[in-house]
Parts: sequence; structure tokens; C-alpha cells
Amino acid sequence: MLRLLFISKSGMWMHYLRLLTLVSVFFTSSIILASSTKVESIFKFCGTCHGENGEGKKSLAAPAIAGLPMWYVKAQLMKFRSGGRGLHANDEGGLRMRPMARTLQNDVDVDAIAKYVSEREVVNPPRTLKGSPVAGESSYMVCAACHGAKARGMQVLNAPPLANQSDWYLLTQLKHFKSGIRGSNPQLDPIGASMAPMASTLVDEKATLNVIAYIKAFGKVNVVAKREPTWGQWLGLW
Ligand code: HEC
Ligand code: HEC
Repeated sequence: MLRLLFISKSGMWMHYLRLLTLVSVFFTSSIILASSTKVESIFKFCGTCHGENGEGKKSLAAPAIAGLPMWYVKAQLMKFRSGGRGLHANDEGGLRMRPMARTLQNDVDVDAIAKYVSEREVVNPPRTLKGSPVAGESSYMVCAACHGAKARGMQVLNAPPLANQSDWYLLTQLKHFKSGIRGSNPQLDPIGASMAPMASTLVDEKATLNVIAYIKAFGKVNVVAKREPTWGQWLGLW
């Protein structure tokens, strides 16, 4: 009798356990579903300036963001939010971007959109500026120390990839670093402040255009492994 009771009780427990698993699977998947549609709609909003595939829009001074590494996108969003970037009165683009970063409700949304952006296919916008890649090579030696020989970026040094970026945006940023519009606040933006003196190694606009031409000559560069494996791939299910 006791044995029977035990069996039926454990049977009941198994039933509860199964039910519990089903319920939790249902809730987790609906949460995942809800958050993935949320991040897609956030990206649509970003796309109004950055282009629907994150390819950038020159008319709005919005750079290509598709495929930038998650750590870099997150760092920039956090800086736009805190005022480490995009506060200077002459920073037209930054002033446009800062309020956009502040529409993100919390760090969870920042993480989610940064991940989503990093998983988009890189676009590599075409060249729009003139410059000599050959003449730019020697100036790039300095840059390579942090941005890598092929401008793929180096996370350990917080240096983003420069390949795959629009030349007009690289030019604006180098000018901004040089003139103190970006990276001039070591308290709020110590990393930007480490880049600022590097821009001054480019003596004039010609040297800047040449180094940009050298960077663009790399063409479309594979920056990071595209996607983390999905749960299904990880478990070997699909
Ligand atoms: C109103 C237009 C606009 C919208 C909307 C917008 N951005 Fe931007 N964003 C810009 C501009 C302009 C810049 C260039 C800032 C500069 O020149 O420093 C920029 C810069 C950035 C950068 C820095 C890129 C780099 O290489 O340093 C990131 C990252 C970024 N935006 C992500 C986003 C994300 C994510 C969203 C959506 C949540 C978004 N932006 C929405 C206009 C916009
Ligand atoms: C000491 C390391 C270091 C060196 C050397 C260096 N950079 Fe950087 N660079 C950085 C870091 C770190 C950042 C990211 C700044 C930030 O987070 O705002 C950066 C950012 C940039 C950006 C902005 C990219 C974007 O998407 O907004 C450009 C453009 C750039 N560097 C170009 C250059 C060029 C050209 C050279 C060579 C003349 C160079 N850098 C040398 C560390 C370096």
C-alpha cells in the first residue's frame, strides 16, 4: 500500500514537473519572442537615419553601423547617453545621435540593440573621397598599432574596425578628434581621449585623405565571427 502510494505520488510529481517545464518553456519562449520583435522595431527606428540595413546615410551624417562589434556599439551608445560623446556645440552628428541613444530605456535594451546591430551583414559603403592609398600607407603604421594591420579593430585596446566604414564619416571623426569636438573629455570619455592625439599625427587634410584611402583599399573586411551559435545549433538539434 505504502509502495503503491509512493509510486502514484512520484507519478504525480513527474506530472507536475512536466507541466512546470512546459509552462516555463512557454513563458521563456514568449519572452524571447517579445524581446526579439522589440529589438527589431528599435532597429527600424535606428534605420531612419542609419539606413534600413545599417549601411549609413551621408545626407544625415549617420555612419554605417551594420556589423560593428557589439562591445564598440555598446560603448558608443553608453557614451552618447552619458554625454561623453555628442555634447560639443559643433558636433552636428553627435548632437543628432545623443538624444536617440537616450530613447533606449535601459541597459537591457542597449545590450539587445548592440548585439542586433553587430549581427547585421557588413555593407562597406563605396568610396566618395579622393586620396592616395600608396601615400597613406606610412601614416597608417601608427594606426595599425591599435586598429590592426587590416583595420579590423582590436577589442583589447577598445579600437574599433575602420574598414567597412564610410570615408566621409572617417574624415569627420578624424577632424573632430583633432579639433577637440570628440575625445576631449578624459573624465567622461577616457577612451576617446586616447584616440584624440593620434589624429594629430596626420599633419593636414591631404595626409588624412590619404590614410582614409589606404583604409578603404582593404575593401570589405571580415571583422568578427558573424553570429553566436543558436541554442539549437549548440545542442546539435538544428
Ligand atoms: C536622428 C538620426 C539617428 C538615429 C535615429 C540614430 N542615429 Fe546613430 N548616429 C547618428 C549620427 C548623425 C551619428 C554620427 C555621430 C557623430 O558624427 O559623431 C550616429 C552615430 C552612431 C554610432 C557611432 C558609430 C561609430 O562608428 O562610432 C552608433 C553605434 C549609432 N549611431 C547607433 C545607433 C543606434 C543603435 C540607433 C537606434 C537606437 C541609432 N544610432 C539611431 C544619427 C542617428
Ligand atoms: C593608441 C591606440 C590608437 C591609435 C594608435 C589610433 N587609434 Fe583610432 N581609435 C582608438 C580608439 C580606442 C578609438 C575608439 C574611441 C572611442 O571609443 O570613442 C578610436 C577611434 C577611431 C576612429 C573613430 C571610428 C568610429 O567608428 O567612430 C577613427 C576614424 C580612428 N580611430 C582613426 C585612426 C587613425 C586614422 C589612426 C592613425 C592615424 C588611429 N586611429 C590611431 C585608438 C587608437
